[in-house]
Amino acid sequence: MTYSFGHNSFGKYDIVRPWLVSGKNDVPAYIPQPSYSQTSIPDNGPEISEIKDMYQIECMRNSCKLASYILRQVNTLIKPGITTDALDKQVHDMIIGNGAYPSPLNYRGFPKSICTSVNNVACHGIPDNRPLQDGDILNVDITVYLNGYHGDCSNMFQIGEVDSEGKRLITITELCLKEAIQICKPNERFCNIGNVIEEIANKHNLSVIPACLGHGIGTYFHGAPDIYHFANDYSERMQSGMTFTIEPILSQGTTQLEILEDGWTACTIDNSRTAQIEHTILITDDGCEVLTF
Ligand code: MF3
Ligand code: CO
Ligand code: CO
Repeated sequence: MTYSFGHNSFGKYDIVRPWLVSGKNDVPAYIPQPSYSQTSIPDNGPEISEIKDMYQIECMRNSCKLASYILRQVNTLIKPGITTDALDKQVHDMIIGNGAYPSPLNYRGFPKSICTSVNNVACHGIPDNRPLQDGDILNVDITVYLNGYHGDCSNMFQIGEVDSEGKRLITITELCLKEAIQICKPNERFCNIGNVIEEIANKHNLSVIPACLGHGIGTYFHGAPDIYHFANDYSERMQSGMTFTIEPILSQGTTQLEILEDGWTACTIDNSRTAQIEHTILITDDGCEVLTF
């Protein structure tokens, strides 16, 4: 197998295109499934932000705890030479083994159980038979549906020796998410999430991809509120009992994405690398709780 390394002003890394995607993973009938697992069409999420009661919050805690546990296990599976398809299969089995459904599977027709976005793929990468190689950075996004509630998180992983620009991109993305979480509390405006993220990104000469939003989450995968990660003046305020994700994508170069023919894979049009990290947050009476820690 031959690998080509790109060498451009964004650093030293492989420019990735989709490889072969294998057949559908099975889900045993005893696993409770969201309705789109059959139809591919999700029920509409709420149009106004839902305030969850104690029972709903407990359900969110459980699904989020499982999602973050599975995401941590990815550390032990990921290594040079493993394909994202093999990673998808192992994670799929682990999710099923814990009595949950892998939320991406057949969501609007998505063909796999996790999203794996490598180097210049910004988000919604489909696991395929490309072996991970030295120098790759990738986002693995895990969402599980447990007891009727979704929990959603993602993190960046590094394969072997990553160049300094790749490492810096990841570090600043971590900082953006951390600082955004720190302002979350009742009565805070949602727009300040984007205002904080954009300021930090720009200060470090990185840009925020505007097309990708955080979202409310619950019995639905995506619903109100929309969370913008760029500077904005959206007027809605956070309230205790709301659950939503924050999932900024930072780019080394352009903010423009191209969706490939598979209908999912979103690449930067200048092949620059991106990094994304995601947590699901609960607003509490005196601040917030990161449900996917
Ligand atoms: N987990 C992604 C998010 O953070 C959504 C993936 S949609 C899928 O919102 F269909 F690609 F799975
Ligand atoms: Co999400
Ligand atoms: Co996600």
